[in-house]
Amino acid sequence: MKRSAIRELLKLTNRPDMISFAGGLPAPELFPMEAIREASDAVLRHQGPAVMQYGPTEGVAELRDWVAQSLSIPGRPLGREQVLITSGAQQALDLIGRVFVDEGDTVLVENPTYLAALSAWRPCGARFEAIPDESVDPDASRFRGQLERPAKLVYLVPNFSNPTGNSLSEERRLILARQITPLGEGSTVWVEDDPYGALRYDGVAPASLFQRAGARWGESSPVLRVGTFSKVLVPGLRVGWVTGPEPLLDALVRAKQAADLHSSPFNQWLVLELIRRGLLETQHPRWTDLYRSRRDTMLEALAETFPSWAHWTKPDGGMFVWVTLPQGMNSTTLLEEALAQGVAFVPGAEFHIDDSGHNTFRLNFTHAPPQRIREGIRRLGEVICRSPRG
Ligand SMILES: Cc1ncc(COP(=O)(O)O)c(C=O)c1O
Repeated sequence: MKRSAIRELLKLTNRPDMISFAGGLPAPELFPMEAIREASDAVLRHQGPAVMQYGPTEGVAELRDWVAQSLSIPGRPLGREQVLITSGAQQALDLIGRVFVDEGDTVLVENPTYLAALSAWRPCGARFEAIPDESVDPDASRFRGQLERPAKLVYLVPNFSNPTGNSLSEERRLILARQITPLGEGSTVWVEDDPYGALRYDGVAPASLFQRAGARWGESSPVLRVGTFSKVLVPGLRVGWVTGPEPLLDALVRAKQAADLHSSPFNQWLVLELIRRGLLETQHPRWTDLYRSRRDTMLEALAETFPSWAHWTKPDGGMFVWVTLPQGMNSTTLLEEALAQGVAFVPGAEFHIDDSGHNTFRLNFTHAPPQRIREGIRRLGEVICRSPRG
């Protein structure tokens, strides 16, 4: 593991005068602080010292039940034994790497993909390859044939991905779902990581791969679905989960035992108490209304101030817009100039597996208030216009 030069640069974003589009941070003004205070009190009073005691590695049974129920589909109910509570979705990814990835194993990812999944699995010896693109290779049967040997893992962020904000189309989901084969010796494990699915501002949600593979393969489905309360309640409690078939979960439970014994019982009970008090329902429109308007503010500002030769995604949800500049431009060089102008973003090469994407970068639109979004994009537009085009 190495410290990233970009992360060192981005430490500057802590300066109060900096307009940062870099972190994937929720809007803190929406954290339900009073409700958290009241729920904490209720948990301490009703659950007593048990919430300060060591607990089961799998997590608090009632919270596992809630997750199982929320992911059940007609005809395929999930049980708590198919749910492991983790310390954020990030721990689920870390455990998945420890259990399933050995030196030299092929891991298929979108390119670009979630940076911290790459960072979690690289030390396990993962060899990353891009998921074959059916628009280039529509012959589904070549999916596996293209690889030197079968992939150990396939990793997808299906909705409003980090970093691009794009979602898998219905067509792509169908093609990918056809590639999923049931669990067996040497089979490929699929990881569907969906922290942003609930942050949808337009359109309707397509079925997940977890649902599709579950409907087809039942208990033998090889899909692990990773989720989190970070984006729909608060990230600071660090409560996430992974669901999937029991043999895979058993191995993850053993890895979690070695990692941290279990996640905080108090935080799990607190999340459960907030859910029981209806916070997911009351918070949801607050998040989506605020983020939709911030996304629109950013898209308007981009259209007004960025040059016509820059392109960017127009996400239906999530937290990110992804900008592509002409080939030859370098967003890491641009970052240094942008920081000098008091604006930060994350250069795109970081999210790529093959040293490509130097002409791309990621912008977060959920954290900064609208006037700072407008001002930051204006300054960034000036920096880009001044830069030589390759
Ligand atoms: C794609 C993706 N997966 C996982 C995570 C980690 O989430 P958590 O806060 O639950 O650890 C993030 C956080 O930004 C993310 O973008």
